[in-house]
Amino acid sequence: MSCEYATDIHPTGYGVLRLPRSIVVGAQQRFAIANIAADLGRNVLICTDPRLATSEDLKKLVASLEARNLTVRVYGDTQAELPVPGIMACVAQLKGQPIDVIIGFGGGSCMDMAKVVSVLLAHGGQPRDYYGEFAVPGPVIPVIALPTTAGTGSEATAVAVVSDPELGMKMGISSPHIIPYAAVCDPELTYTCPPSLTAATGADAFVHLVESFTAITREPTSSLATERVFVGKNVLADSLALNGIRLVGRSLATAYKNPENTGARADMMLAALYGGITLSNAGTAAAHAIQYPVGNLTHTPHGVGVGLLLPYVVRHNFNAIMPQLAEIAEALGRDTRGLDARAAAMAGVDAIDEILAAIDMPATLADLGVEESQLGQIAALSMNSKRLIENNPMLLDLDAVTSIVQAAFFGDRTIA
Ligand SMILES: NC(=O)c1ccc[n+]([C@@H]2O[C@H](COP(=O)([O-])OP(=O)(O)OC[C@H]3O[C@@H](n4cnc5c(N)ncnc54)[C@H](O)[C@@H]3O)[C@@H](O)[C@H]2O)c1
Repeated sequence: MSCEYATDIHPTGYGVLRLPRSIVVGAQQRFAIANIAADLGRNVLICTDPRLATSEDLKKLVASLEARNLTVRVYGDTQAELPVPGIMACVAQLKGQPIDVIIGFGGGSCMDMAKVVSVLLAHGGQPRDYYGEFAVPGPVIPVIALPTTAGTGSEATAVAVVSDPELGMKMGISSPHIIPYAAVCDPELTYTCPPSLTAATGADAFVHLVESFTAITREPTSSLATERVFVGKNVLADSLALNGIRLVGRSLATAYKNPENTGARADMMLAALYGGITLSNAGTAAAHAIQYPVGNLTHTPHGVGVGLLLPYVVRHNFNAIMPQLAEIAEALGRDTRGLDARAAAMAGVDAIDEILAAIDMPATLADLGVEESQLGQIAALSMNSKRLIENNPMLLDLDAVTSIVQAAFFGDRTIA
């Protein structure tokens, strides 16, 4: 039984994991950063945002670095969703300054700021010179990522996402060179996240985990790991994905409804880290491709968009991912013993719906303010995210994406 099962889930046995050199997890571990940074040089830049720039946590972080005789500069103007002009303003201020290590302190926006600034200070140019996969030509200034949200997993990813106003969309820089040197995940830093942020970021983590676990399985050629940053479903990412899904099932609703529950916060920090690792290696798919134009049109948080879309995407992919959905059902506490393959997979779909309903995710694109007349445009723009579309377990053409977008608009949760 276990052998048959393993063959279903991992038809190829192929695996890829690219990771930070150190990952440190636990309450108070933010104070491990001073020693990690001191090993890398004397001159530290911290990229953070205006809210965190005035926080006690930043003051204490700076003090801990200065106590190691490090020189600390703080750039505190990172803007949410990382518009390119803000990145260039930071680089203009810092050019020519000695910088040995960059700490990204904040949510995904600040961690991605640290990554992009490390590329631009090391190699020059503009973010657009590095869009796509493998365009960063070599090593960058080492980044230490210190997340304050439990969501993006950027602390462990080979990706930085920027908003490019000239292109009118978000763009990704994807390269193993930008994986942070160290990820320090201290759940205490998330205690101040209000419920709406906990829900949006927690949904983001959940979708990373589910989309990675249900991603396409590619033929494991010897060049796959060097041709693609995101190689598709793989045996190494899978065990982390399932563990992350378990943690989300156990703790996302609690962290949302009971923000001071420290155990739930710790679980979600770990789940977000696992989501980052799995998205960075296996890769995400249709929910992410469709969210980009939706986020652009509605100015709604990324996590809310992907969380809303996931139930429609797993239904569309249902016939290609039944064994994975059954595994997800078990990880989310459903008893699938005695069920046939379809019923067990359906239990996974129900469990996913339930997790997202428990954190009050909107149910339809209409709830986000999308108009019916915009559905064609959303579907067409989603197709531009080629690497995400290609990572979906079922072949997606424009008609297929249109049908997902329409189902998500009208709230149609039937399975073909
Ligand atoms: N690089 C990756 O792998 C990756 C993956 C997914 C998403 N992203 C990107 O990450 C960004 C989103 O990041 P995010 O969702 O973490 O939000 P964010 O970094 O944009 O922050 C959103 C808001 O939350 C506030 N905030 C952060 N931590 C807080 C805390 N502890 N308490 C109270 N408020 C807090 C911030 O100050 C900000 O106002 C987007 O640009 C997205 O595209 C990157």
